[in-house]
Amino acid sequence: MPLFEGKVALVTGGATGIGRETALRYAAQGARVTVADINEDEGRNTIGMIEAAGGEAIFIRTDVTSPADVEAMVARTVERFGRLDAAFNNAGTPGGFTNVVDCTMAEWERTVALNLTSVWLCMKHEIPAMLASGGGAIVNTASEAANHPAPHMATYVATKSGVVGLTRSAALDFAGQNVRVNALLPGPTVTPMLLRGTQGLDRSLEAFGAGLPMGRVGQPREQADVVIFLTSEMSSFVTGMAVSVDGGLNLR
Ligand SMILES: NC(=O)c1ccc[n+]([C@@H]2O[C@H](COP(=O)([O-])OP(=O)(O)OC[C@H]3O[C@@H](n4cnc5c(N)ncnc54)[C@H](O)[C@@H]3O)[C@@H](O)[C@H]2O)c1
Repeated sequence: MPLFEGKVALVTGGATGIGRETALRYAAQGARVTVADINEDEGRNTIGMIEAAGGEAIFIRTDVTSPADVEAMVARTVERFGRLDAAFNNAGTPGGFTNVVDCTMAEWERTVALNLTSVWLCMKHEIPAMLASGGGAIVNTASEAANHPAPHMATYVATKSGVVGLTRSAALDFAGQNVRVNALLPGPTVTPMLLRGTQGLDRSLEAFGAGLPMGRVGQPREQADVVIFLTSEMSSFVTGMAVSVDGGLNLR
């Protein structure tokens, strides 16, 4: 039987990259899926891909930095599908590529709002919805950069480290109520975000990947499979973990 038969999954940042791939895999595993994103065109393309494969999904235009949008995202999901079992809080930004001295107040606040405050806001509304249908599982996207900071990414590293702390606190507070919460720490993975971020590099993506322990960058599917595992019954005794999916970058 598919892992998510009869279940409902919600993915933020589901218009492209890791989020899109995860939304597709939830649907392939039988879930009805909410795709939430600010990118309406690509968000609707994700829905089209799910429907073309015989799945069921809705797009909800959501700015995850807006408390009203996030509340409505969860409410509309429950209204439409009747429950919430799995959530992947994944929308994010690399931030402004500066050090702590050059970072401006506006840049700091924008990155914190999108990478960290949004994850709290999502869980604030998702957890009550999950409790109402007996429990659920959440994955929050952090980054392996939380353990291995890259230069000029101070704000990003701070927010992604914050996501790990927030994940562990939520996991502890709701462990006794059948809500599991884990963090995904992707290493470099081929998505629009990585492609934008490596545009200015003096080497190709292949050369960039060759510098990693497994000799290559990751694919969105390799992240999505771990999210599926962490939000399915297959990981029913796993909570509070920060799971690196990084081709061995954590070994450095
Ligand atoms: N790709 C990598 O190498 C990598 C590595 C580590 C961590 N990550 C993390 O993975 C997550 C997904 O990134 P990706 O690589 O798939 O990139 P991506 O750019 O393909 O996806 C990010 C998605 O978030 C959406 N988004 C941006 N701002 C939003 C907002 N305010 N409200 C709702 N949605 C918004 C974008 O429209 C986009 O669809 C991010 O949190 C990122 O930090 C990525």
